[in-house]
Amino acid sequence: RTRVAVLISGTGTNLQALMEQTKKPSSSAEIVVVISNRPGVLGLKKASMAGIQTRVVDHKLYGSRAEFDGTIDRVLEEFGVEVVCLAGFMRILTGHFVRKWNGKLLNIHPSLLPSFKGVNAQKQALLAGVRLTGCTVHFVVEEVDAGAIIAQEAVPVLVNDTEESLSERIREAEHRTFPAALELVAGGVVRLGEDGRIVWRHH
Ligand code: GAR
Repeated sequence: RTRVAVLISGTGTNLQALMEQTKKPSSSAEIVVVISNRPGVLGLKKASMAGIQTRVVDHKLYGSRAEFDGTIDRVLEEFGVEVVCLAGFMRILTGHFVRKWNGKLLNIHPSLLPSFKGVNAQKQALLAGVRLTGCTVHFVVEEVDAGAIIAQEAVPVLVNDTEESLSERIREAEHRTFPAALELVAGGVVRLGEDGRIVWRHH
């Protein structure tokens, strides 16, 4: 089974969905460590309750992004990690780190990329007046929210939606999409090609 790390900054509902998927005997993935840049968050508690190792790498304790990323990289190496899932991880990783983990680094974003990149994607969707938004799991590249798309799910915007109600509906879709995308990558069905595009395994 593919050894997976999940990086979080908060509540960890996507982490929970990934844990539920990977505990199935049929899963191609196994979560070996959960890393948070914020101490004391609920996601860390969820991981330890499930018997998964946790680490805190507090960005506030590092003088530079390179030192912060270097510490995360060392934890990943320590655990023999092969695939990294960014599940509500709210730090931008350095180019050096992203290049090293090219093709192994997955992120979930609360919009149908390439629409509404960056922070507050749900609010951006409401302001734009779109009737459909959703979530995207993609490979991470240096440019933020830009890598090859692995999986997406569309979510309707309803007439009386607030940022909170829309975010909640998107989150439910994320809990299906992220585990599905992880299985595709961990199972070798999907990989990142040399040209930066998705390659599907042919049978
Ligand atoms: C998710 O909605 C995820 O898409 C978003 O943070 C939330 C984390 O929720 N990520 C981003 O906005 C990344 N820029 P969770 O902690 O409950 O999984």
